[in-house]
Amino acid sequence: MKYINNNFFVEKVNSKKLAKKFDTPLYCYSYEKLKKNINNFILNFSKLSPLICFAIKSNSNLNIIREIKKFGLGADVVSKGELMQAIKAGISPNKIVFSGVGKTYTELKYAIDKKILLINSESKSEVKQIEKIAKSKKKIVDIGIRLNPNTDAKTLSKISTGKKGDKFGVDEKAFIELVSYTKKSKYINLRCLSVHIGSQIFKNKPYERMLKVIDRIISKVDFKFDFIDLGGGIGISYKNDNKKFNYANYQKSIIKHLGKYNSKIIFEPGRSIVANTGILISKIIYIKKNQSKNFIILDAGMNDLMRPALYGAKHRIIPINKTNKFSNTTYEFVGPICESTDKFSSIKKFQKLKEKDLLIICDVGAYGFSLSSNYNLRSKPAEILIKGSRIIVAKKRQKLSDII
Ligand code: LLP
Repeated sequence: MKYINNNFFVEKVNSKKLAKKFDTPLYCYSYEKLKKNINNFILNFSKLSPLICFAIKSNSNLNIIREIKKFGLGADVVSKGELMQAIKAGISPNKIVFSGVGKTYTELKYAIDKKILLINSESKSEVKQIEKIAKSKKKIVDIGIRLNPNTDAKTLSKISTGKKGDKFGVDEKAFIELVSYTKKSKYINLRCLSVHIGSQIFKNKPYERMLKVIDRIISKVDFKFDFIDLGGGIGISYKNDNKKFNYANYQKSIIKHLGKYNSKIIFEPGRSIVANTGILISKIIYIKKNQSKNFIILDAGMNDLMRPALYGAKHRIIPINKTNKFSNTTYEFVGPICESTDKFSSIKKFQKLKEKDLLIICDVGAYGFSLSSNYNLRSKPAEILIKGSRIIVAKKRQKLSDII
């Protein structure tokens, strides 16, 4: 994705043309970027030959998942809907892991019927529920237990999941108890230790601490885990810099702490695979001036892209057509939703804008569309996938008649 003669292109397609053809707000993804991210992920962990299970929650578009599947990736799902979507996209159930603290009876039954690779369980009650279903079906079910390693992921507090106060996983004591419980069970086959300490992690330190805890606990329980599922969480830079997560260090740490156990490593990446593949194209509806700033009122709102309102996340905003004329007033980019948090960012020196101009909100491929809603009874945008000069409608714009 880049400017060619001051026009923003997604691969070989001028994004202005897309806006004209499909209207705005519009999600648009680059296949080339997706391919690059997946190949990099595989290459960066090549010494581990892991099973890579794409976290469907980050982007649950069927056509995107279909593309991801072609690279041999499995799926990490957290609901029956995501499991159905992963299977519909052609992902083999023996590459699917099911995470989440509150899987219902119906969801567990469905997962067991589909014979997925692992149900990563997060409580004793859930393990017992699985056991009950397994017994009624006279089946042995493969599970993992999610450990809460009490590790600070040093990320946004709202997306941190591995500290002792967090609802996720079980603590060390409960983990050890569950290992002995499952050893005695006729219907449960414990195969995996799983963790996921948070998202948008940029440093190796939190991972290193997490790995140390896993290492200590595995040697304590003295149990052979076929799999160690390290979850996702690898961060990307949302700024226009070249900062990258240091994969080599992480791989080294994994080998150092877990290599000796000869367990197959599983990763559940979401953001690192899809975040920078997507943009959201939006049009300026109005510009409203007050004494100190100009409100740039966009046709995309927090229902289309929730991250800024929900986490204070910052996404770069750039013009679709570059000019050399800059404004002296601060631009505050806001959506049309009736909420004060419906604000994307404030930018001091932006190029001069006028009503109807088109803008691009960057890096929205992960937790962008998947977190969108019909709030204010607005229909969801279309999603377009670009492959070279090919334009694929990955999902049609929702019609108002679908929701009214
Ligand atoms: N595995 C589990 C069990 C998870 O809970 C998650 C994300 C992932 C894998 C994928 O993590 P990733 O590689 O994408 O960091 N909505 C927030 C992010 C929430 C992440 C939830 N769990 C955001 O927009 O930043």
